[in-house]
Amino acid sequence: MKTPVLQMKGICKSFGGLRALIDVDLELYDNEILAIVGDNGAGKSTLIKVLTGVYQADEGTTLLNGKPANIKNRQDSLAAGIATVYQNLGLVDSLAAAPNIFLGDEPKKRILGLPFIDNKKMRIDANRILREQVGVELPNPNEPIRDYSGGQRQAVAIARAVRANDIHVLVMDEPTAALGPEETRHTLELIRTVRSRGTPIILISHNLDHVFSVADRVQVMRGGKNAGVVDVAKSTKQDVLGLIVGSELMEAL
Ligand SMILES: Nc1ncnc2c1ncn2[C@@H]1O[C@H](COP(=O)(O)OP(=O)(O)OP(=O)(O)O)[C@@H](O)[C@H]1O
Ligand SMILES: [Mg+2]
Repeated sequence: MKTPVLQMKGICKSFGGLRALIDVDLELYDNEILAIVGDNGAGKSTLIKVLTGVYQADEGTTLLNGKPANIKNRQDSLAAGIATVYQNLGLVDSLAAAPNIFLGDEPKKRILGLPFIDNKKMRIDANRILREQVGVELPNPNEPIRDYSGGQRQAVAIARAVRANDIHVLVMDEPTAALGPEETRHTLELIRTVRSRGTPIILISHNLDHVFSVADRVQVMRGGKNAGVVDVAKSTKQDVLGLIVGSELMEAL
């Protein structure tokens, strides 16, 4: 058996009396796209927030390449090589691609002993990351990103997330939720490219068509529990839908 890149075991998380996660396991292997699906309130975002250190689990462990990760906050998770693209992307509309990609961590140079942002290096590095890690060439990299398409903005957000050298996992929360058909196609292609360049991906999505077009495996969450994990190649959307709503309801339908 191969060691998973990422393993979460027995994760429990309550908010007051509400049990948001109950004994949840997750395994992510090298070179795969794992989708997480489930109804509203099923616990998908909470599980991801435990992984990224936004929340602390009440119980359970997270292992990276077989070693305990001990993630207590956002910084720990970034340092452990877990990159996240949130649904709102977290970009600044008035800035161009490069300053968005390096936001808060711009390369500096010294002039007469004073630190300045090294814009030239930042642009060169940004274009290299976009080309090599995300697989896109932006037509207008120096224009403010407010004029970019949804797919181009997504590319900038992914470049920002994977910019650090040692990325072990990329987490994407609903990357196609607000996009048109063409932008969705582009973004699904970006996801495949990032994976093909060596980063395994956790993709949260409500759209089973998108999930079945990019994911290798699907983990279904229901009522805070892991309701099942299926191979995309060996199952149908109907199977996954059955796990999402539960067998009792499926029979009633
Ligand atoms: N900070 C919080 N405080 C209290 N309850 C919370 C908090 N975050 C999540 N919950 C609750 O935990 C449960 C799981 O929520 P979560 O956001 O993980 O669901 P989800 O699967 O991501 O749903 P959606 O598809 O709507 O994004 C819900 O009942 C939610 O109301
Ligand atoms: Mg959510």
